[in-house]
Amino acid sequence: MQSPNPPAAVYSDTAVRQFAIMSVVWGVVGMLVGVVIASQLAWPDLNFGIPWLSYGRLRPLHTNAVIFAFGGCALMATSFHVVQRTCQVRLFAPGLASFVFWGWQAVIVAAAISLPMGYTSGKEYAELEWPIDILIAVVWVAYAIVFFGTLAVRKVRHIYVANWFYGAFIIAVALLHIVNSAAVPAGWMKSYSAYAGVQDAMVQWWYGHNAVGFFLTAGFLGMMYYYIPKQVGRPVYSYRLSIVHFWALIFTYMWAGPHHLHYTALPDWTQSIGMVFSLILLAPSWGGMINGIMTLSGAWHKLRTDPIVRFLIVALSFYGMSTFEGPMMSIKTVNALSHYTDWTIGHVHSGALGWVGLITMGSLYYLIPRLYNRTEMYSMKAIELHFWMSTVGIVLYIAAMWIAGVMQGLMWRSINADGTLTYTFVEGVKATYPYYVVRVIGGVLYLAGMLVMAWNVVMTIGAGHSVRAQIPMPAPAHA
Ligand code: HEM
Ligand code: HEM
Repeated sequence: MQSPNPPAAVYSDTAVRQFAIMSVVWGVVGMLVGVVIASQLAWPDLNFGIPWLSYGRLRPLHTNAVIFAFGGCALMATSFHVVQRTCQVRLFAPGLASFVFWGWQAVIVAAAISLPMGYTSGKEYAELEWPIDILIAVVWVAYAIVFFGTLAVRKVRHIYVANWFYGAFIIAVALLHIVNSAAVPAGWMKSYSAYAGVQDAMVQWWYGHNAVGFFLTAGFLGMMYYYIPKQVGRPVYSYRLSIVHFWALIFTYMWAGPHHLHYTALPDWTQSIGMVFSLILLAPSWGGMINGIMTLSGAWHKLRTDPIVRFLIVALSFYGMSTFEGPMMSIKTVNALSHYTDWTIGHVHSGALGWVGLITMGSLYYLIPRLYNRTEMYSMKAIELHFWMSTVGIVLYIAAMWIAGVMQGLMWRSINADGTLTYTFVEGVKATYPYYVVRVIGGVLYLAGMLVMAWNVVMTIGAGHSVRAQIPMPAPAHA
């Protein structure tokens, strides 16, 4: 049982505020680039013949902006907020937290300049060149010192489960980044990977898959374990399950990377291990999802009345969907159909738009008014509108990609009686065109929802309501 929160002034929230606002700003930027590249896939002329606007350069800009700028700023804002409240202490070394904020923005700006200029290491989700990699490592170590320093000086004995997830995210990302980015520099913005051949591929996808597991999952589960109980006003459904969830997820994720390399030069047994661990991963993923959704038990009516609860709970539904789909896609025979097709892109965005996007938006809607001493967001109607725009946007995006992906897979493997291919590749591209247009419509809706959020945030800060009361953290049901 925790004591009621001390007054807000005890906490050091400058970095929390800065990260929360920048998460919204980078969300708009990253999603805008997403809409641009989605449009280029439907209408290739949209690169206007300018190298900086070419698809190959803007695609990594999109992935870096949405994952590391939008998602990263949200994770840093919420982890600094949660660790102070659950440890009942001020942030350890607020000056260092400020360095983390400015350092992280410098990394993002460096990415936004160097990627369109064509500088890339060629490793997906780790494209940035070595000088920027070093800056990332320095900022990340500072982040770890602030977070774990705050845990070390905590005033409550118990470490609330959200901090376990944030902590694992911080340690794992440091490890992944340093190992995967090891390279031999060959100039200021050019380097060669320290690994070669199939080892390079394996290290890359050990990194890539765990970037999903720890950056796009574990940190956001930390958000789930704090902001859902807070917004719903009820304790976590099962605290015991949250501990099992944590250890099972952390242990299993690390081994699943080879499912990205099915039917490659990677030894077959390694691929099979990746597949088996991916199938096992369904259990802890769903355990966590059920724990989050059941936190609502006894308060289901809030789904009808509170749009913020809706963001948080629908996020979990998408989490459940993508963590069911992922294990299925890791089965080799299923992957033989899905790999290289837009099915993968549909899977990615049901996780990214549905889980990562919605849980972030719900958490920020809880957090931002409190950071600025407002009772609530400026417009609850605008949150409602945002919810529907993003949900319809996601459904259009992922449904279009699923249909396109399965169609592509079936067309590519279709063979005539004489052994020749039934369809040329360009016939597959032509058949995909309408689905790419539907994806653009879904993406524009999702981006427009984000703009509604940005407007609401500006209005909340500029013209919000009166000072709110502090609500104590509900105690865990089963300690
Ligand atoms: C307006 C919203 C968005 C649109 C229109 C959009 C569009 C796109 C497009 C067109 C691609 C390239 C697909 C391809 O190469 O075939 C892509 C890739 C990707 N996007 Fe998005 N995106 C959006 C939001 C997001 C968000 C919020 C995230 C993460 C939090 C995200 C994560 C990714 C990732 C990880 C990839 C690479 C997928 C892969 O390599 O398999 N996207 N996106
Ligand atoms: C139990 C959980 C999950 C499993 C077992 C899983 C499995 C898979 C598999 C088999 C692929 C296709 C690999 C390929 O054919 O190239 C894939 C791709 C991907 N998944 Fe998942 N997935 C899971 C959850 C998620 C979640 C929750 C997200 C996002 C938040 C996500 C993001 C991605 C991304 C970004 C890729 C594309 C990587 C790339 O090729 O660039 N996954 N996943």
